[in-house]
Amino acid sequence: MDKFYLTTAIDYVNGAPHIGHAYEKIITDVIARHFSQRCDNVYFLTGTDEHGIKIQKTAASKGITPKELCDENAQKFKDAWKALDIDYTRFIRTTDEDHVKIVQKIFQKLVQNGDIYKNSYEGLYCSGCECFLNPKDLTEDGLCPDHLKKPEVVREENYFFKLTKYKDAIIKHIKENPDFIIPQFRANEVLNQLEDIQDISVSRAKSNVQWGIDVLDDPEQSIYVWIDALSNYITALGYDTENPSDKFKTYWPADVQVIGKDILKFHSIYWPAILLALDLPLPKHILAHGWITIDEAKMSKSIGNVISPTSVLEAFELETPDAFRYYMATAAPCGKDGNYSDDDFKEKVNAHLANSMGNLLNRTLSMLVKYFDGDVKEEFFVSRGSELVEGSLSLLKTALNKIDLVKNNFDNFAIAEAGLEIVNLVDITNKYVTDNAPWTLAKEGKMTECGQVLTTVLEVMCIISALIYPFCPNIAKDMARQLSFDLNKKLDDLTYENIKTGHLISKEEIKPVFLRVDSELADKSKK
Ligand code: MSP
Repeated sequence: MDKFYLTTAIDYVNGAPHIGHAYEKIITDVIARHFSQRCDNVYFLTGTDEHGIKIQKTAASKGITPKELCDENAQKFKDAWKALDIDYTRFIRTTDEDHVKIVQKIFQKLVQNGDIYKNSYEGLYCSGCECFLNPKDLTEDGLCPDHLKKPEVVREENYFFKLTKYKDAIIKHIKENPDFIIPQFRANEVLNQLEDIQDISVSRAKSNVQWGIDVLDDPEQSIYVWIDALSNYITALGYDTENPSDKFKTYWPADVQVIGKDILKFHSIYWPAILLALDLPLPKHILAHGWITIDEAKMSKSIGNVISPTSVLEAFELETPDAFRYYMATAAPCGKDGNYSDDDFKEKVNAHLANSMGNLLNRTLSMLVKYFDGDVKEEFFVSRGSELVEGSLSLLKTALNKIDLVKNNFDNFAIAEAGLEIVNLVDITNKYVTDNAPWTLAKEGKMTECGQVLTTVLEVMCIISALIYPFCPNIAKDMARQLSFDLNKKLDDLTYENIKTGHLISKEEIKPVFLRVDSELADKSKK
């Protein structure tokens, strides 16, 4: 693997980020960090989608310019991602100058090639979706099914993109590449939608929508949402219609584009069609994740249950975002919906991160100090001496095998499933400790056996710290520090000889890697 390019959807900036937006950025960051353990050249793109009628209207209602509103809200997204340790390579804003210029050139090229034409049009426009709706997709009451709002009747001269020209090529691509759309069960939905697609409007009259990118040769029109927004994935890399940058040549096509299931149509039909029109290769995978509900209810301003990710960190007085990242990244099996609840959050992170994983390391290091002054001796290593304690070698093999299982899950973008494999390794290791009771071995004077149990567990803990790193980077670093383990090692270079012989740790250096989340805080956060 010589490079790995991954992207998220770019968020609308007419509000602050909520935990649905956070879910997507967290799973993408987890994927990025995992692949950075397998490849030196990972590029992770995220950002904000800033044009459109919604922004124009919200800004007007606040008495500020659309750009002022975008600046204010884009910063809220950047701040939230910082608090969550989202380690992106670039944060693109569709108001960025380089993006605007290239989008104009892309539009011009598509007009020149005959893929975009002008036509008068009457349609039902939903400003929530920022697109025209097909009358047959409306609810019985004539409302947009997603926003439950009546769409406006819009009559305009617009530019249209010849989506229909690419229909057969896209159907063929989806059928020939069963892992293009992940999860695969969504591919059938897309194939059904492709049955009755029509050409799409890609501009709006300036008289109706001012907050958009101008069409270069026709100042009465502004480029509308999807060509602008979708192009971010290539403009960010310096794509140019005449002379694409080296960065573009290195990273495109994307290895995975992470989006929510609600915008799969745009990414698996519109986006491939635009790319085909530009004669560019299609992304390798589109990962359509499910939606996050709050206490099993859809998040909505009217219900008043919209939660900001930073409010969770504050309510539980979390010093790092690791627990929240872990909870979100394991909230739903690949592509399925997931749920957030304060009680479940507290229970899960306490059980998995504090009681099982954190405690295992803490107890083992404490015993190493108690029985051996924190020293690891040559004869403790199963691999160097012999297996004195049954099950030690098999535990080490299981741990190495887990690396492959986790990698395999990530290859299929099954992130929650990868998390479960790690928890399972922690459970197996805890059972090994209980079965072999190192404290009894010490009492019986079987010191080498006792040392072997502790050393074997510490070897496995090195592997666990590497595997948990994408989910919980701070906890992983704390674990690795106490194990004198180099977390920068690539996953494929891990062996079961990660612990060095000699003095490892003294009493004062042992520190719990994760403190239990307080139950009273959960109650407080509810209020
Ligand atoms: N701006 C467009 C995307 C353009 S991509 C070229 C958009 N923005 S959005 O702000 O409405 O949504 C951004 C992402 O957040 C989407 O992938 C969407 O699916 C995701 N989510 C929004 N609410 C969500 C949940 N409640 N749960 C999980 N993801 C959700 O669409």
